[in-house]
Formats: sequence, C-alpha cells, structure tokens
Amino acid sequence: MTHLLEFFGRLHPMLVHLPIGFLVMSFILIIASHWKRAKVSRSALSLLFLFSAFTATLSCLTGYLLSRSGEYNEETLFWHKWMGITLAAASTMAWIIIRDGKHTRTIQIFSAVLIALLLFTGHWGASLTHGGNYLSEPLAAINQPEVAPLDLSKVNFTEVKFYPDLVRPVIERKCTSCHSAEKQKGNLRLDNPEFIFKGGKSGKAVVPFRKDESELLSRIHIATDDKKHMPPKEKPALTRDEIQLLELWIETGADVEKKFADLVPEAKRQTLFAPAEEEQGIPDKEISPADPRVIESLTKQEVSIAPLSQRSNYLSVSFVSVPKQASALLKELGQVKHHVVALHLGGSEVTDEMAAMLSSFDNLSRLYLDDAIISDQVLAKVASLTNLVFLNLKGTAVTARGIESLKTLPRLRHLFLYQTKISREDHATIKSWFPHTIVDFGDYQVPTLASDTQEVKPPKR
Ligand code: HEC
Repeated sequence: MTHLLEFFGRLHPMLVHLPIGFLVMSFILIIASHWKRAKVSRSALSLLFLFSAFTATLSCLTGYLLSRSGEYNEETLFWHKWMGITLAAASTMAWIIIRDGKHTRTIQIFSAVLIALLLFTGHWGASLTHGGNYLSEPLAAINQPEVAPLDLSKVNFTEVKFYPDLVRPVIERKCTSCHSAEKQKGNLRLDNPEFIFKGGKSGKAVVPFRKDESELLSRIHIATDDKKHMPPKEKPALTRDEIQLLELWIETGADVEKKFADLVPEAKRQTLFAPAEEEQGIPDKEISPADPRVIESLTKQEVSIAPLSQRSNYLSVSFVSVPKQASALLKELGQVKHHVVALHLGGSEVTDEMAAMLSSFDNLSRLYLDDAIISDQVLAKVASLTNLVFLNLKGTAVTARGIESLKTLPRLRHLFLYQTKISREDHATIKSWFPHTIVDFGDYQVPTLASDTQEVKPPKR
C-alpha cells in the first residue's frame, strides 16, 4: 500500500501542470473579453475553473503524499502547501461565482489573484525540488570565481585545521547541494558538524574513530553504478585525495576544531596522499611511444628502462647498474627526453655538464640522486626542473646553500635529505623553506596512535 501511495505522490510534479494550464487559459480569456470585448462564453469559463479546482485539489492530495518522504525543507514546504491549498480553494470559489451569474468585476480580480497565487506556489515548489537558490544561483555565479579544486600540494599541513580547512570545503563542493538546509536528501544534512553526527534516515553518518560504521564512508565506497553511491553518478565524483581526507578525518576521531598536525602525527603524514606507484608523476598529456631504437640501444647497455604503467608511454629509467657510464648514457637518453618521468642516477657522478642536459628533461617528476656525487651548483640546475615532485638526495654532499636553490620548485612534495652534510641546526630553516613539501632528514620518531593498534583491514571497494 505504501508503495502505491508513493507512486501517486510522484505523480504530483506532472499533475500540477494541469491547473496551471487551466488557470492561465481562463485568465487570457477574461483579459480578452475585457480589452478586446471578445465574446467569451461563461459556460466555457465555468468549465475551466471547475477543471482547475478539480486538478488543483488532486495536486494537493498527491503533493501531501509526496511530502511524507520527509526529504523537503520544512519551512518551504509549509508555504508551498498552504499556497497550494489556497489556490485549490480559490479556484473552487471562482467556479461558484461564475456559475452564479453576473459578477464580472469580481471574477476579473479573482483571476488575477489566482495567477499571483500560481506564481508563488510554483516558486516554492521549485525551491523544494531544486533548492531555494535555484533561480538566483546562475546569476550569483556570474560574479563568483569557480571554487578551485582541492590541491593538497598547496596545503600547509602544519597550520591548517582539519575539519574547517580541509573536510568542510570537500563536503561543500561535493555534497551540500543535496544535503543542507535547502535540500535534505535521505533526511541528511551535511552543512554543519551537528547534523553530520546526527545523520539521516539510516542513522549516524559519521561515527568517530570507526570507519566501517560510518554511513558516509560506506556510501562513498559502494560501487559507482550502485544507486546508493555518493555523490550520485551524475555529479562530480570525489577525488582520491578527497576520499583519503574524509577517511582520515573519521579515523582520527572526526574532531571539528583541532589542527591537522595535532591529529595526524608527522610520520603518518609522510605516507599520506602519495600517488599510487603507477600514477606517480605521469603527465596528463598523452605522448606517443618513444623511439624503440633508442630504448633497444640503451637496454643493451644495461640501462633499465620501462614504461611507467601499462597504459602510459612515459618512461622510468635507471642507470643504477651502470653508474660509470651515466654521462654518455644520459646524452643518448636525451633523444627521448620528453618521455622520461622518473630517473634513477643513484651512485653516479653528476657533472655540471650532465646537470645542464638534465634541465631539458621537461617532464621529469621523480629524480633519484641518492649517493650520487653532486655539488651545490648541480642543484642550481636541478632547480629548473619545474615538474619535479620527488627528489632523493640521500647520502650526497649537498649543503643548505644548495638546497636553498630548490626553493623555487613549485611542485616538490618529497625531499629526501638523510645522511647529507647538512647540519642539524639547519633542519628547521630548511623545513621553513618548503612549507608544502615533506622534507625527510631521517630523524623522525614514530609516535604510536591509539588507532595504530587497531586491526587494519584492506579497503573495501
Ligand atoms: C545530487 C544529489 C546528491 C549529492 C550531490 C549527494 N547526495 Fe547523498 N543522497 C542523495 C539522495 C537522493 C539520498 C537518498 C537516497 C539514498 O538513500 O540513496 C542520499 C543519501 C545519502 C546518505 C544516506 C543517508 C541516510 O541516512 O540514509 C549519505 C550518508 C549521503 N547521501 C552522503 C553523501 C555524501 C558524503 C555526499 C558528497 C560526497 C553526497 N551524499 C552527495 C543525493 C545526493
């Protein structure tokens, strides 16, 4: 039975167009008879008002059934409901008046009032289904810059607060269009922590410390083509980083005030938000396969060279087994320089000349110079590799002065500096040069978290 009622309720959006049609029609006829002195039969008008009274009443009934789903804003619903009921009553009165006979003036006024009621009822109705700012939204958007997508490389993790600066913006971008004061799909509001913890139809959306009991996460992890997947398929999906953020927030207790750094220890931050191995630094732009002759020749000389992933023509190249020939090999590798994304030069001697060559490898994002023989001048050249995300300088003789020249690298996220000549006193200064980069001196201690002792389950997908 309830399913049948739900079905009738869903007829409401279609049915409401009938009284609209009848009332507009009668209004046009009344105007025409007034201004143009056209002959309009009273029985035709009477029939139109009768039909609008009948269909408006039907709309009220189906509207009531629809409203029982509880997904609508109460205040807007209140106005829409009572305007609708007034409209049905006024249509009925108009029908009675016109059947009665002569009151031409009264019927003109009535018709105008009915049109006004129609506009308001329609407006509240649209606000119910599409949100209160449905009409004004495109106008407001004219002057508003687009919300920039979450870019974790620009986040200063030691300063930001977890919920206000990281979690809330994600929810606002991807969820509140359907879960806020305007609309409460699934009876759920996500625009404020109080509501988030209160939850929706099926209970709590977020249970602090409990990832597997938080409906919000299960909805995100459920298969994309499942109806229950959030956000729904037709809306912009959450990115990997956004999902990780929401998970980590719940896992660390869903605090709404504290700083990110107070909730997530640095050791843990290091492993976060690192791209999956196969995605590391692959440029968005596709590239045609590299010249196979170059690859063949290098492979023969014991250079290890492989595509970064099965779907990519970008290359990861390693000279680690042939450090002595690095200079000559690099010259040869130069023929496919746009393909090289990762380069291992561990243990080689990197001369100024090689560093100059390297600076034309414009897609290079991961550079391994661990235990290489390099100088601070070489680092100055490395600083021109603007796509560099990852740089390993472990065990080299670089000094703080050399590192300073890397300050300008816009995308650098990981900088490995353990076992270098850099003195302990310089650590803090160097860290301050790279607010968006994880600088690893190998001196961190791993604090234990309560949540670290929990059983770790593989993520559900
Ligand atoms: C386009 C509209 C839309 C967007 C955007 C959207 N949702 Fe939903 N959401 C719904 C609808 C409709 C339901 C109710 C139907 C259902 O239970 O699947 C729902 C239900 C839910 C529920 C279950 C509530 C309960 O207690 O049953 C959760 C949790 C949820 N959404 C979370 C999210 C999150 C998190 C986001 C953002 C990442 C999001 N939603 C974005 C439309 C949306």
